[in-house]
Amino acid sequence: MAIQKQNEIYDHRRSVNSKKLFLRACRCEPVEHVPVWIMRQAGRYLPEYREIRAKHPFLEVAKTPELAAEVSLQPWRRLGVDAVIMFSDILIPAEAMGLGLELTDGGPVLPETVRTAAQVEKLRVFDPDIETQFVGDTIRLLCRELGPDVPVLGFAAAPWTLACYMVDGRGRDGFPVTKTMMHVEPRLLRTLLEKIAYITAAYLRSQLAAGAAAVQIFDTWAGELGATEYREFALPATQLLIKEIDAADTPVILYTKASNHLLTAAAESGATVLSVDWRADLAEVRRMVGPEIALQGNVDPCVLLGPEAGVARAAVEAIAKTRGRGHILNLGHGILPTTPVENAQAFVKAGQEYSPTANAAKL
Ligand code: CP3
Repeated sequence: MAIQKQNEIYDHRRSVNSKKLFLRACRCEPVEHVPVWIMRQAGRYLPEYREIRAKHPFLEVAKTPELAAEVSLQPWRRLGVDAVIMFSDILIPAEAMGLGLELTDGGPVLPETVRTAAQVEKLRVFDPDIETQFVGDTIRLLCRELGPDVPVLGFAAAPWTLACYMVDGRGRDGFPVTKTMMHVEPRLLRTLLEKIAYITAAYLRSQLAAGAAAVQIFDTWAGELGATEYREFALPATQLLIKEIDAADTPVILYTKASNHLLTAAAESGATVLSVDWRADLAEVRRMVGPEIALQGNVDPCVLLGPEAGVARAAVEAIAKTRGRGHILNLGHGILPTTPVENAQAFVKAGQEYSPTANAAKL
């Protein structure tokens, strides 16, 4: 591993209890500054991540707790984010359900698709503490390494988004095979979504038992659905999942992309936090969903490809939209591999230095 220069590493001596801050934001309680983290923060924009990936294939990193924990910690060391998301992928459970998984340069591929009743039936209801023990071990390692003041985040795909990959076999525009199933065999799709919901609930419960402070559900492809379809197919499965996680006070964050038309429905999912992309106006979303549900997001990842001053401005503008109440600053989707590290640092710093209360008069 490269020995990082001291001045490139974030100074963690600041006296902030990130976990407390994060949990307060999730509950819409007042905070001195909003917590900040970045989706896909462990990834290719970081030279130290690329260095590990040059030696180990993606799935090996994800399945080796020491490596997975190391790459999860890299953005915390480098950027000083307020939450550490475990390194893994939303498709790991698909593999544990019995499907092959390949991560190619063109994105993930599941060569054995799920398109018939027999194939849905055959999906294995796996025991996460055994089959994906490496996930729990990664979280346990992270919790040990970070101590009680930094929240570790677990995650999984929402049933709809995982079904898209399982049925189509890969990410492709519009997921036409999954949508065909929706129109031709709606009951089969519902059975699949429900089965995924139960399996994913056990998977997320196991992450919480391992020490995750919150979990995020990625419904990246919810926006492929119209509002009626979302309510008929994706939402009931997400509601079932959240109910089955049975997380009591533990926050559940629901991410949906391109979902302005779905947010009032998504607010009925049972999630504690809605994570939205840059197409949404956070002030408008707040009006739509009311004061009880926290928001996460929503700066366009492309802003971080521009000048640093623009990055800081976008971070502050996002916080101004929520007045810093019930808000976790993040991007609207994953950070891009071409992002300069200094811009990721500028984003986090601008978010953490901006005090919503001190600036209340300006908002
Ligand atoms: O946020 C984090 O830092 C934790 C790690 C994480 C990864 N994937 C690592 C990863 C998380 C939370 C995910 C979620 C994920 N994976 C989603 C939902 C969120 C989103 O970004 O939409 C989706 C749809 C996937 C499926 C997936 N995995 C795709 C489409 C790809 C290829 C695209 C890409 O970015 O290369 C992956 C591979 C993947 N997952 C990489 C990483 C860091 C890149 C692989 C590499 O290092 O070569």
